[in-house]
Amino acid sequence: MTTADQQEILRRRTFAIISHPDAGKTTLTEKLLLYGGAIHVAGAVKSNKIRRTATSDWMEIEKQRGISVATSVMGFDYSDYHINILDTPGHQDFAEDTFRTLTAVDSAIVVIDSAKGVETQTRRLMEVCRMRKTPVMIFMNKMDREGKDPFDLMDEAEKELGIHCVPITWANDQGLRFESVFALNNRPAELSEKLQADMELIDGVYPAFDKRAYLSGDVAPVFFGSAYKTIGVQELLDFFVQNAPSPRPVAAEERTVYPNEEGFTGFCFKIHANMDPNHRSCIAFFKICSGKFERNTYYKHVRKGQQMRFSSPTCFMAQKKETVDEAYAGDIVGLPDTGNFKIGDTLTSGEDLHFKGLPSFSPEMFKYIDNADPMKQKQLEKGVNQLMDEGVAQLFVSQLNGRKIIGTVGQLQFEVIQYRLEHEYQAKCKWQPLQMYKACWIESDDAKEIDTFKKRKTQYMAFDKEGRDVFMADSAYILSMAQQDYPNIKFHFTSEF
Ligand code: G4P
Repeated sequence: MTTADQQEILRRRTFAIISHPDAGKTTLTEKLLLYGGAIHVAGAVKSNKIRRTATSDWMEIEKQRGISVATSVMGFDYSDYHINILDTPGHQDFAEDTFRTLTAVDSAIVVIDSAKGVETQTRRLMEVCRMRKTPVMIFMNKMDREGKDPFDLMDEAEKELGIHCVPITWANDQGLRFESVFALNNRPAELSEKLQADMELIDGVYPAFDKRAYLSGDVAPVFFGSAYKTIGVQELLDFFVQNAPSPRPVAAEERTVYPNEEGFTGFCFKIHANMDPNHRSCIAFFKICSGKFERNTYYKHVRKGQQMRFSSPTCFMAQKKETVDEAYAGDIVGLPDTGNFKIGDTLTSGEDLHFKGLPSFSPEMFKYIDNADPMKQKQLEKGVNQLMDEGVAQLFVSQLNGRKIIGTVGQLQFEVIQYRLEHEYQAKCKWQPLQMYKACWIESDDAKEIDTFKKRKTQYMAFDKEGRDVFMADSAYILSMAQQDYPNIKFHFTSEF
């Protein structure tokens, strides 16, 4: 790889902003884009959040899907750096989408509403970051409102998010008196009595920022500000580009892949169906893990064992989708797809590699899916299979009677599936409620015990989409009984263990 190519990789910063809905993610994203000169007026970034009140408004969902493809990845240059912001859906029913997006980032910025503190969605997303040791920075937003005390906010973040905090900036005050922030390593000569006391406490309690501890995911640098008023945002951005990691090595089943390797590798973390129901084409989003991706070059689709080349790959600059000739490790390329890809697929220059870290999580809600139009059985099957490949929900097939079960994170996904089956596949489905607690992927060194278990529990057994055995526990009690009775079997709530 040439030095120029290596430089391209080193200057990349690919990250996601995560937060509970309404904490200010969209506003902050927009301000970052303004600093990068990628947009010129405030209000240009449409929030891709599906309002919680609109849970059964399908048209709204469709509209939102249109917006969210435009804002899926926002790339821009800022000083010497190339920044890629990956958007994450705000609605909790799409949590799994967000988890997968987090597998494609090298770091994250957590936005917390300083009046509300740490909220549920932030906590859940942070769990994923912790699991993956993703470095995170925290932005305490809305300091222009009367909110919680900054020290209490940091205590709360430490406790609730399980990460040590180190403040980097500090606000002059809060609420109506909030005007500015200053860097703690470059304090103003004159400080009010209150701020002097704050400084003493900070110096006494918090260690100096340790970049290594940040990069290993143990410490989060903390910033205060107001995205809305554009205060404290540039301090965050400058610190971010200087300290956030360039593309990190990625673990594959076979070996660790380093970004500056000669060969190209990448994995698909998201598939976005086209808005136009007449052309059932999708965009498959690939995170480039190593090397350089080039247009019209043959790459190996590892699962299919096929060579493929792409004449119109797209990259995302600000909110425009543009055809690109080349993209580097750290970048996201969108590949037009007509059903060749599914989540987790790998493309390489030729090597057989399988990237890890795209597990399925046990769904929270389950329903039987039945055909409601006998003439359209084939369409229904095709539609269900493609939607599952896109990662909209998970499909299980009962080992007892072959019935299909769809598992989701929330009710909204059932509505999306039904709507899309009708509009894109001309198929009709019916749902039948199913009382279910968790889907558990089972594993044991003891083949005999697994065998006995499967025989005894046939009515609870299903196959997932890859044909793996899954135990469908209909209550916490049934699960704990199974765990007691079969001590040599491990029950996992994710498909990767
Ligand atoms: P989200 O993407 O995380 O869901 O949040 P978003 O940026 O849409 O912000 C949610 C609301 O919070 C918006 O108000 C936004 O203007 C406001 N907000 C964001 N940052 C700040 C801040 O620093 N200070 C204050 N006071 N408010 C902030 P809204 O009324 O829901 O929408 P809008 O009418 O302002 O667009």
